[in-house]
Amino acid sequence: MVAQSIIDKLSQYDQLHLLKFYDDLTASQQEHLLSQIERIDFSLLDLLQNRQAKSVKGKLAPLNALTIAEIAANKEVYRELGLTAIRQHQVAAILLAGGQGTRLGFEKPKGMLNVGIDRTLYLFQLLIGNLLEVVQEAAAWLPLYIMTSEKNHQDTMEFLAEQNYFGYQKEYVFFFQQEMAPSVAYDGKIYLEKPDEISLSPNGNGGWFTSLQKAGLVRQMKQQGVKWLNIFSVDNPLQRIADPVFIGATVQQQCFCAAKVVKKTEPQEHVGVLCLEDDKPSIVEYYELTEELIHSRDAKGDLLYNWGVILNYLFQLEKLEAISDQQLPLHIVEKKIPYLDENGICIEPKQPNGYKFELLVLDMIHLMENCLSFEVEREKEFAPIKNPTGVDSLESARKLLQQNGIEL
Ligand code: UTP
Repeated sequence: MVAQSIIDKLSQYDQLHLLKFYDDLTASQQEHLLSQIERIDFSLLDLLQNRQAKSVKGKLAPLNALTIAEIAANKEVYRELGLTAIRQHQVAAILLAGGQGTRLGFEKPKGMLNVGIDRTLYLFQLLIGNLLEVVQEAAAWLPLYIMTSEKNHQDTMEFLAEQNYFGYQKEYVFFFQQEMAPSVAYDGKIYLEKPDEISLSPNGNGGWFTSLQKAGLVRQMKQQGVKWLNIFSVDNPLQRIADPVFIGATVQQQCFCAAKVVKKTEPQEHVGVLCLEDDKPSIVEYYELTEELIHSRDAKGDLLYNWGVILNYLFQLEKLEAISDQQLPLHIVEKKIPYLDENGICIEPKQPNGYKFELLVLDMIHLMENCLSFEVEREKEFAPIKNPTGVDSLESARKLLQQNGIEL
C-alpha cells in the first residue's frame, strides 16, 4: 500500500505516473521506489513554470585580466609563493568528475576515455600526470579529491584503484559523491529509468563544496591546514593543476578566488566570460551579453569582454565556508535522458528530450568580492573534450596534445 502522504505529494505535482508499474514490483523494489520519491525535492519543478522569466543580469562592466606578459614579469615570485603554499600543505586539488558527458556519448566515466592513438592514454592518466609534475617540482604531495556521482562512483573508484592511481600516492586520493536531482520531460513529468527507479542525474558541478562538506572532508582539510582549493574539470587534459604560478599570483594579489582565462577566439565564441556585474566578479554566458557588449573594444582595439573561463578556479577555503549558506541559482538544462516509455521499454534518445536541474560552479564567483582573472595560453592549457567530433572534441584535443609534444 502506498502511503496517502506519498499519493498527495505526487498528485500535488502531477507525478502519479511514477507509480505506473508499482503493482508489478517486488516488495523490495516497491520500497526502493517509495523511498526515492520521499527523498526528492519536488518543489524544484516549480522552476519550470517560471522558465520564461529569464535571469536578469545586473550592471555589467569589463574586468581586466593579469595578462601573460604581466605574469611573465613576476613569474618567479609567484612560483615561489605557490610552491611554498603547496609545501606547507595549504593547497588541495579537486577534480570535478561527476558529470555524465552526454554530448560525448561515452558510456563510462569520462576520465576513462582513451585519448591515445598508438598507445593507451586515459584522460585520468593525463590529468594525474599533470598534477604529478607539480608534486615533483614542489617535492611535496598534495591531496587530490575526486567528485563522482551515484552514476559513476563505483566505476571511477575501481578503475583508478586498478590503475594504481596512475602513480599518485593512494593516501592522498579521496573520493566524494555529489547530490542527484530528478530529470523531467518537456511537459514537467519526471522520467522513470526503470520500473522501480526514478531518473536521477547529478545536480551540476556547483554543488561540489556542499558535497565536500557533507562528506566531512572540509573538516579534514582544515585539520591539515588546507587554505586553497583548485577545482578543475575532467575533460581538459592540457590544463595545469595546482599551478604554482597561478596560486602564487592569487596569494600575492590577496584575492578570495581566481579563474584561469583565455582570450576569446572571436567575439561570439560560446564561452562564459569573466567580468564585473554590479561591481562584483561574475561569469556571464555568451547569450547573456548584448550584441553591443560582445563587440565593444578598448582604445587598443581589444575586446572588452574578452576573457573566457576554462573551468579551472582557485578558491580560498575560508571564503567558501563564509558563503556556503548562500543558495546558488538552479539552472534548467536541456539534455538527452534515457527513460522508460509507456510500455516499460527503455529508450535511449538521440536528441535532447527533457530537462535536468543543475547548480553551476561559475555562479560561485559572483558570491566573492573579488576574483583574479589570470590569462593562460589557450594552445597550451585548453583542450576540452565535449563532443565526439568537431569543436571541443576528442579530435581537436588530440591535435592540441600533439602540438604540445605529447605522444599519442
Ligand atoms: P559539463 O558542463 O561538460 O557537463 O561539465 P557534463 O555533464 O560532463 O557533460 P554534458 O554537458 O552532459 O555533455 C564540466 C565539468 O563539470 C563536471 C564534469 O564532470 C566536468 O568535469 N560535472 C558536471 C560534475 O562534476 N557534475 C555535474 O553534475 C556536472
